[in-house]
Amino acid sequence: MKKAFSGIDIAARFEHAKDVIREAGKRAMEYYEGDAADLAIETKTNALDMVSIADKNVEAIIRDRIGDAFPEDGFLGEEMGIEKGDNDCLWVIDPIDGTACFVNQMPTWCISVALMIGKEAVIGLIYHPCGDELFSAIKGEGAKVNGEPMHASTAKLVSDGMMGIGMSHRVPSSEIVPVIGQLLDEEGMFIRNGSCALMMAYVSAGRLIGYYEPHINPWDCMAGIVLVIEAGGWCNDFLDLPDVLDAGGPILAAGPNVARHLAKMTGVTHPG
Ligand code: IPD
Ligand code: CA
Ligand code: CA
Repeated sequence: MKKAFSGIDIAARFEHAKDVIREAGKRAMEYYEGDAADLAIETKTNALDMVSIADKNVEAIIRDRIGDAFPEDGFLGEEMGIEKGDNDCLWVIDPIDGTACFVNQMPTWCISVALMIGKEAVIGLIYHPCGDELFSAIKGEGAKVNGEPMHASTAKLVSDGMMGIGMSHRVPSSEIVPVIGQLLDEEGMFIRNGSCALMMAYVSAGRLIGYYEPHINPWDCMAGIVLVIEAGGWCNDFLDLPDVLDAGGPILAAGPNVARHLAKMTGVTHPG
């Protein structure tokens, strides 16, 4: 890694970002545990696509704290958009993933921070404040949860575990209903907890056998991609999709033994 990206100290960025994401989590928890009426919720398009003052302020904390330490780095965040840097580093941030849960007092929300260098995702951090779990990975160095190594599921059949499913109103229901139908027909089961990032963290920890969403944005899944791959799982080539940082695309993350089958089920490209 160090040779491939000479001049960029990935380890220093990783250590700093771990502190920052925990600090951001503390601030988000203050909002979560505070008076919900104070949250100043804005609806973006409908009741499931919302943004609160917490989302905006938490993203500002992350950008400020990382920007203070690495002023030459760029940012892409859900709430504040893109700000190019003076080097190849791009921090991809979802300050609160699972906002609909967050504002409705359900604990399945998290903070997702990833570092891309050029076209590669090299750091993945997902912090779940309500469970106090930090999922972390650097490309090529394995994945950890709260400092302990973690591994993707080795399930062989979809009936051997639970599958995470994500869905938004950005795509028609016809893109997910047949997938759920086939999963159930094969005696599999699904869960949708409201946070793509948290479900991808759970794939990397082997708690879910996979995660599929027909359309996702880069800030939702970038950290999860690093975590899943470093945990020995498989992800589709999300970063190779055309115009993906602007337009997003489908995401499939899975344990290695069910990846090919799930790719066939979801229509996602798999080399096997
Ligand atoms: C959403 C969550 C949800 C996923 C949606 C995302 P937000 O992000 O990740 O699980 O299904 O596609 O937009 O709005 O909570 O940050
Ligand atoms: Ca999100
Ligand atoms: Ca968000």
